[in-house]
Amino acid sequence: MIRKVLLKMDKKSKIYQTHKKIKEAISARKKIILWKLAGRPVPPPHIVKQKILKEYAEKYKLHTLIETGTFMGEMIDAMLPAFSRIISVEVDQALAIRAQKKFSAYPNVTIIQGDSGNVLSAIAADIKQSCLFWLDAHYSGGVTGKSNVETPIIQELNILLNHFASHHVILIDDAREFTGNNNYPTVEEVKNFITVRRPDWVVQVKDDIIRIHQAGI
Ligand SMILES: C[S@@+](CC[C@H](N)C(=O)[O-])C[C@H]1O[C@@H](n2cnc3c(N)ncnc32)[C@H](O)[C@@H]1O
Repeated sequence: MIRKVLLKMDKKSKIYQTHKKIKEAISARKKIILWKLAGRPVPPPHIVKQKILKEYAEKYKLHTLIETGTFMGEMIDAMLPAFSRIISVEVDQALAIRAQKKFSAYPNVTIIQGDSGNVLSAIAADIKQSCLFWLDAHYSGGVTGKSNVETPIIQELNILLNHFASHHVILIDDAREFTGNNNYPTVEEVKNFITVRRPDWVVQVKDDIIRIHQAGI
């Protein structure tokens, strides 16, 4: 009955949109509960990652998100209500153009086409406020792109350590891949890389995400 009414309804109407939002929220909640019941396997569903980013934004009062690896813009989409400014870098030209079109109605979203191992430098140099970094640029097969390395994570961290303001938070996705193969450093190497340069920072891994920020903030 409700379904029939909804099918006839204007998709832009407030009531239709509210119903859609409630349905999405219930489905997201369900996915998170099922993932927890299954013992938090890695990788977690994307909805769990979205929740983690939102929690960091809220806890550390971060209003700017800088993402490396745009892909289909799923994370940007989910973060629109949580950040006032979003910058995302995508190496693959077709994916970058697709995302630029997708978010063209949002003046607060900028998609930059390029290798984040290089272009992050200009972005970081321009930053005045504390940001949340979501470092997720890597080749993942299919239509995804690649620079000269499988993952530019070491170049990205190097750039951030050179420009870094103390209250930024860095989250690196796919901790399970950090095994020392395919250009990926090990998690231990990432820890050393950071703490040798910033002894007052903490590097923790939880739910497949490497989390880096200054201790005590
Ligand atoms: C796992 S996907 C990103 C998913 C997205 N961050 C999300 O959460 O919805 C990885 C993306 O990184 C891109 N990529 C690979 N190497 C890159 C590089 N050096 N610079 C920027 N993007 C890169 C790939 O083309 C791919 O689209």
